[in-house]
Amino acid sequence: MRILAIESSCDETSVAVLSDKRQVLNLEFSLVNSQIKEHSKYGGVVPEVAARLHVPNLVKMLAEVNEKYAWKDFDYIAVTAGPGLITSLMIGAESAKIIAHLLNRPLVIVNHLTAHLNSVLINKPLSAVKFPALGLIVSGGHTELLYLSRLHEYKVLGKTRDDAVGEAYDKVAKLLGLAYPGGPIVSKRAIGVDKDYYDFPRPMYDSPNFDFSFSGLKTAILYKTQEYTKLTPKVVDRICYAFQEAVLDVLQHKIKRALKKYPEVKSLIVAGGVSANQRLREVFQEKFGDLELHFPELQFCGDNAAMIAADAYLQIKFQNKAQILSGASDLSRLRPNPNWEINKSIWRR
Ligand code: KG4
Ligand code: ZN
Repeated sequence: MRILAIESSCDETSVAVLSDKRQVLNLEFSLVNSQIKEHSKYGGVVPEVAARLHVPNLVKMLAEVNEKYAWKDFDYIAVTAGPGLITSLMIGAESAKIIAHLLNRPLVIVNHLTAHLNSVLINKPLSAVKFPALGLIVSGGHTELLYLSRLHEYKVLGKTRDDAVGEAYDKVAKLLGLAYPGGPIVSKRAIGVDKDYYDFPRPMYDSPNFDFSFSGLKTAILYKTQEYTKLTPKVVDRICYAFQEAVLDVLQHKIKRALKKYPEVKSLIVAGGVSANQRLREVFQEKFGDLELHFPELQFCGDNAAMIAADAYLQIKFQNKAQILSGASDLSRLRPNPNWEINKSIWRR
């Protein structure tokens, strides 16, 4: 089976080809274009700019696919149908619809969030993760903790009530006068600081649930910056460190709480843009070394079409008919859902 996948939910355009060889998800081809340069001058993603850029990017990428493959080689076309920015999603979805229609192949619609979790399966056998597992999605748009009883079976335990972790990194970076995206820069600035100089709040640390909140932490940092007439590099480094430690404290505390409730858990999957964070990986290794820990390869932490293909593979394997569209009437019905939640129908808005 060979799948051609498209991702365009935010500011990355990506195309990938994945095939299965004895149940190993073999990534054959992958292109990712990050629009960081175009958005950084605005200090964040501008939806209109992102959507406009997806068009020429996708045309170029599909031309490369055309050079390498015969279109009839693809058994399925897959595309991210939500959550994300609606105009960005529409570029990918409409392109995928046309390809599926012309080739007369089924179109697999993929939820971007489950795809982040399944990014740990790229180039791995399906047996790579032991279940039950906990899944933590930490990206620019989402922070969710999940229980996975087995492959492709998700139960959402908790979510952020306001900012996502990556969003908090990006906003704190902005407050400190650092560039976009803030995550990699803030984490770099934190390296070398020897202790926590500021005791920032750990929002919802003691709340008896698995939800998160990061906007209060961001506000605490705003107030801290206002105490200084000038932010010296040393102060910036120390704030970055203290912010990151507060975030990691909350994340690992909620995971520990979940492990108490679900002691049968064997593995922990951490995925999404923030899972590239080296300090997060260190802390989680230290705290959860008894579990099987699964992080995506660094190149698959951010948005990419390879994870969309991996997720599509599972939809096909488990015959999730609700996400496999075929025929012109099915295809024409598809509208991406910018707020598509895990386990909910894409049609529910
Ligand atoms: O998964 P992703 O590429 O896009 C979304 O689906 O949102 O995540 C992007 C987010 C950004 O907020 C970025 O600042 C953050 O991931 N990020 C990081 C790191 N690398 C990217 N955050 C913390 N540490 C990093 N090393
Ligand atoms: Zn993402």
